[in-house]
Amino acid sequence: MHASRQSSKPQRFYWLFSSLLFLAILWVSALVPTCHKPGQSGAATSGSATGASGDAGRMTFVSAGCPKCHGDLLNGGTGAPPLKNLKQNWDEDKLAAYLADPVGYSSGDARLAEQAAKYPISMPPVNDEATRRALAKWLLAQ
Ligand code: HEC
Repeated sequence: MHASRQSSKPQRFYWLFSSLLFLAILWVSALVPTCHKPGQSGAATSGSATGASGDAGRMTFVSAGCPKCHGDLLNGGTGAPPLKNLKQNWDEDKLAAYLADPVGYSSGDARLAEQAAKYPISMPPVNDEATRRALAKWLLAQ
């Protein structure tokens, strides 16, 4: 009698804990689709509203975590080079290909390889094609 009452307390705790964990997983998975919205709406409107897609481009840049290394104003910093005047070296297709595999791409490009050697953490890949396209378009317009 006494023993069974004692064991019900931790059980209740585990139940509470696992339902909180379940809610947390639901919350995270609810956030994921919102990250894809800019890419999807960009494809649907196919660049008709330049102002709106510019804002979507910035949102994508921020939500993909790029400012952590490249800065809000694309000025670069200790972790990454500035992202100014990319038109000099890139077009949209090349830039999208680079974003898919920055380390692999840089190994075949002398300028990028030399640049990559200056930074301790490698440029991370962007895993979604619509996001890569949106970023490439937006970056080339900056
Ligand atoms: C962990 C830090 C880090 C993050 C986060 C990061 N980058 Fe980079 N990025 C780098 C480094 C380091 C380089 C230089 C590597 C090279 O030359 O290939 C670089 C290079 C680049 C270049 C090439 C610049 C040139 O000189 O031609 C582009 C474009 C770029 N990043 C875009 C992005 C975008 C878009 C994002 C967000 C999806 C992003 N980066 C996120 C570190 C980062």
